[in-house]
Amino acid sequence: MKVAAPAAILTTKRLILRPFREEDDKDVFAYAKDDETTRYLTWPAHRDVAESAWAIRTFFLKPGVWAICKAEDEVCIGCIELRTGNDPVDFGYVLRKDLWGCGYMTEALRAVLDEAFAHLKLDKVTGAHEQGNNASASVMRKCGMHWFARKDHVQVSPVKFADMEYYEITEEQWNADRRRR
Ligand SMILES: CC(C)(COP(=O)(O)OP(=O)(O)OC[C@H]1O[C@@H](n2cnc3c(N)ncnc32)[C@H](O)[C@@H]1OP(=O)(O)O)[C@@H](O)C(=O)NCCC(=O)NCCS
Repeated sequence: MKVAAPAAILTTKRLILRPFREEDDKDVFAYAKDDETTRYLTWPAHRDVAESAWAIRTFFLKPGVWAICKAEDEVCIGCIELRTGNDPVDFGYVLRKDLWGCGYMTEALRAVLDEAFAHLKLDKVTGAHEQGNNASASVMRKCGMHWFARKDHVQVSPVKFADMEYYEITEEQWNADRRRR
């Protein structure tokens, strides 16, 4: 199914999700350089700012990829992507380590799910995390997503295999959950 382009900017109480800019390279490097942050991701930590600049140019400058910024300064503190080309549509996210545990990614994912269901009219969105990535599991659960499968030894990149847990949420579940909040 062809999906419309997601909105360029999404706002929440504390965050602005905006398109990446080439000038975000140093701020991307600030989170992407850390091995603990990339432990459960499909790509290894960046070695220098030039690698972050290359990642921005190659992967981030397209609709559905947002720089997560605090509303007060618009400095990029992470990334969230809604992969509308995938069937079913899924997402990925990462946040700067010193800001973990403040509820920012839950806030960002809720905004992206709202965009997915209210604007893009998707029926379902899925998410996946590596076994052991309990913070990511918690974010998905807090956003009303439901676990539905586990698969071992999945090829998640050309060079990486991982044991994965899968979550999903339908438009109906999202709207019911939103009414409860
Ligand atoms: C996963 C990630 C995006 C979460 O972002 P965040 O802004 O810290 O998430 P939130 O604060 O909204 O929620 C995190 C929840 O996980 C909990 N948590 C954090 N570390 C945890 C751990 N090791 N075990 C269990 N729960 C954990 C937090 O307490 C919080 O739950 P709570 O609100 O009920 O207390 C962030 O940790 C990150 O960028 N990790 C590295 C990249 C990554 O793994 N991305 C996901 C790939 S699937």
